[in-house]
Amino acid sequence: MANLLRITDLSTTELEQMVHLAESIKADLKSGGTNTSLSGKTLGMIFQKPSTRTRLSFEVGMAQMGGRALYIRDEEIGLGVRESIADVARVVSRYVDCIMIRAKKHNDIEDLAKHATVPVINGLSDQAHPCQALADVLTIREQCTSKAPKVVFVGDGNNVFVSLANACIMLGYDVVLAAPKGYQIEVPGAAFIENPQEAVKDADIIYTDVWTSMGQEDERDARLAAFHGYQVNESLMALAKPTAKFLHCLPAHRGEEVSNGVMEGAQSVVFDQAENRMHAQKAVLARLIGGI
Ligand code: CP
Ligand code: NVA
Repeated sequence: MANLLRITDLSTTELEQMVHLAESIKADLKSGGTNTSLSGKTLGMIFQKPSTRTRLSFEVGMAQMGGRALYIRDEEIGLGVRESIADVARVVSRYVDCIMIRAKKHNDIEDLAKHATVPVINGLSDQAHPCQALADVLTIREQCTSKAPKVVFVGDGNNVFVSLANACIMLGYDVVLAAPKGYQIEVPGAAFIENPQEAVKDADIIYTDVWTSMGQEDERDARLAAFHGYQVNESLMALAKPTAKFLHCLPAHRGEEVSNGVMEGAQSVVFDQAENRMHAQKAVLARLIGGI
């Protein structure tokens, strides 16, 4: 793996190894260990959209491993506007050991990766969120006893769904998307069921994300109407297995895609999931630039 732009940049074996590495990095940290495998390394982080988890988890993860991270706002570098993407890629590569980028257009990340001479990590695009999916798989493995859990994503067939579905299918999980017509997306191996009540039957994991992603604000009214009836609330959770867990990549819009009761309920593991972003990304960094 030279870059991590999509989950499918990893082979199934590489994905399994990455998750195992994340598990051992997490266990080591929890038992008081120190890991300085990124000593002297610098991660450049370019953001064209806001972030809480992605920025903090990469920044703290780098620091914990002895390296450092630079937060670069697109307002400063003007990707493709002040300077061409190809030139930015070649310049930034001369200073840092790895680039993480959150961009509006996935193709811009591909372009940056093509011209960069250091590894590039996708920190969210309109098409994919591979770092999120690694944390999600780590969380599912911690929370589920089943080796082949049924993962039901209720809501928009978006960037988060695509990466989650790719990862889960590679690991042999059963993946279902419950979305209204017009908001489905084809991911080979994933099933589509329009009716959310039917889709969540026997689910081990129920996952949702916002109905209006960053950059789709103009579509908000149409989306609120289209997703009416797709809220993950207590009645929908009751149709899944009693042991089912609730996941959300966050930030959540309570009262829209998820009820406050489910977010705060006993089945919700969303904050463990958020924490796992850091452990998963430390594994990615260790693989890409830590010689592990
Ligand atoms: N889940 C996620 O990527 O969160 P941020 O947008 O806060 O980084
Ligand atoms: N689908 C959301 C995920 C945010 C982490 C978005 O793209 O805004």
